[in-house]
Amino acid sequence: MAFSANLFHVCCLIFFAFFFTNPIKCVDGEGPLPALFVFGDSILDVGNNNYINTTTQFQANWSPYGETFFKSPTGRPCDGRLISDFIAEFANLSLIPAFFEIGTDKFLHGVNFASSGSGCLVETNRGIVIDLQTQLTHFNEVVELLVNKLGSQQSQQLLTDAVYMFSTGSNDYAFPYLTNPKKFPFPKEQFSEMVLGNFTAILQAIYNKGGRKFIIFTLPPEGCSPGGRAFNAQIGGKSGECMQELSGLLEMHSNALPKRLTQLQQNFKGFNFTLFDLYKLFTQRIDNPSKYGFNVSIEACCGTGAFKGINSCGGKRQVKDYELCKNVTDYVFFDASHPTETANQQFAQLLWNGTTDVIAPHNLKSFFQL
Ligand SMILES: *[C@@H]1O[C@H](CO)[C@@H](O)[C@H](O)[C@H]1NC(C)=O
Ligand SMILES: *[C@@H]1O[C@H](CO)[C@@H](O)[C@H](O)[C@H]1NC(C)=O
Ligand SMILES: *[C@@H]1O[C@H](CO)[C@@H](O)[C@H](O)[C@H]1NC(C)=O
Ligand SMILES: *[C@@H]1O[C@H](CO)[C@@H](O)[C@H](O)[C@H]1NC(C)=O
Ligand SMILES: *[C@@H]1O[C@H](CO)[C@@H](O)[C@H](O)[C@H]1NC(C)=O
Ligand SMILES: *[C@@H]1O[C@H](CO)[C@@H](O)[C@H](O)[C@H]1NC(C)=O
Ligand SMILES: *[C@@H]1O[C@H](CO)[C@@H](O)[C@H](O)[C@H]1NC(C)=O
Repeated sequence: MAFSANLFHVCCLIFFAFFFTNPIKCVDGEGPLPALFVFGDSILDVGNNNYINTTTQFQANWSPYGETFFKSPTGRPCDGRLISDFIAEFANLSLIPAFFEIGTDKFLHGVNFASSGSGCLVETNRGIVIDLQTQLTHFNEVVELLVNKLGSQQSQQLLTDAVYMFSTGSNDYAFPYLTNPKKFPFPKEQFSEMVLGNFTAILQAIYNKGGRKFIIFTLPPEGCSPGGRAFNAQIGGKSGECMQELSGLLEMHSNALPKRLTQLQQNFKGFNFTLFDLYKLFTQRIDNPSKYGFNVSIEACCGTGAFKGINSCGGKRQVKDYELCKNVTDYVFFDASHPTETANQQFAQLLWNGTTDVIAPHNLKSFFQL
């Protein structure tokens, strides 16, 4: 006890000496707060796609996106904050900036690399998203910046204490499925092996840089989003029903995650992970909205057509017509496939300190306590 308390004290003094040039936050008598590095898709994209050559399909930097909390659009595909924004708040960190907005010194509490439309495979929406491999390249650039700023020893400590958050995979399945909804164009098991293989390779690469604490989201039930229901009707499915085949693929991936992650833990000393069941939390709210304080779960707040499932929110994409709901807090979905801030807040709270039925084996709070 005494030893570790002293260590924290020394650590904080070292960081105090750096404070004027390097404002790493310290809690009284403790070390610096663990940083948060965020990877993945639109569930976590805080504006990276504002800076790349893409299509408006994968952007959201116009009103009414951002209206609830930021009062102006940021690129987040939501009316307000995303799960990672709430987690930063719970962890006493400032908002984690998009990679393209870190400037010369805003990367010491973590960086967000996520890109809407991206997946684990480079082929997924290739050319118009930042795939996970490229997100890793961006992370490696940040590691260089950290080493230059803090020196190798302190940057190593920062990388080891940091938390690495991932929401990735659903676009790998949605992309080929939506292009060919009649028949998934690959053998499913093999395809899933390939997606998972690429995903775990990224985790290993971060481990090799010093990363130890990984938080992985299961895939959201895209087939039951307003967009999924609308698309299902378009391709001749029963009106209002979910795209079962897509949901099945996403579930298959999610079900394979625990074994894959356990293998990594067995093979790599100190590799630590926890799995967040976003699929379950989303599904609970879609199936039983009133139990969670919502009253609309199959229709989006913003969009047009059946279930407002046509992705037209803000009128800047292909379809220009859109309607915006009066009270966004009534809704689970803000647009055709993305949760509202209210839903994100509930998810983040459960990710932070929920019970093992949704976050296991560790809650995220324990990852932020050194
Ligand atoms: C973006 O794409 C356009 C059209 O394809 C091209 O002219 C432009 O150079 C690209 N910009 C970047 C930054 O890649
Ligand atoms: C955040 O700050 C509050 C108030 O100082 C403190 O009670 C809490 O333990 C801190 N949380 C973390 C994760 O450091
Ligand atoms: C990663 O994906 C590529 C296709 O983009 C595939 O050829 C390769 O085998 C995959 N790697 C692993 C380890 O599964
Ligand atoms: C949500 O429920 C409230 C209270 O029952 C009701 O006044 C409101 O009209 C409902 N909103 C929608 C969009 O159904
Ligand atoms: C919006 O809905 C929430 C939850 O149903 C309710 O508490 C709030 O009063 C509503 N706000 C408005 C402006 O109707
Ligand atoms: C998580 O924290 C919230 C807010 O502090 C609290 O209301 C809730 O009971 C906690 N949940 C658990 C499972 O401890
Ligand atoms: C993983 O992290 C948790 C929470 O911080 C900790 O209790 C546990 O001992 C760690 N496990 C490993 C294998 O490092």
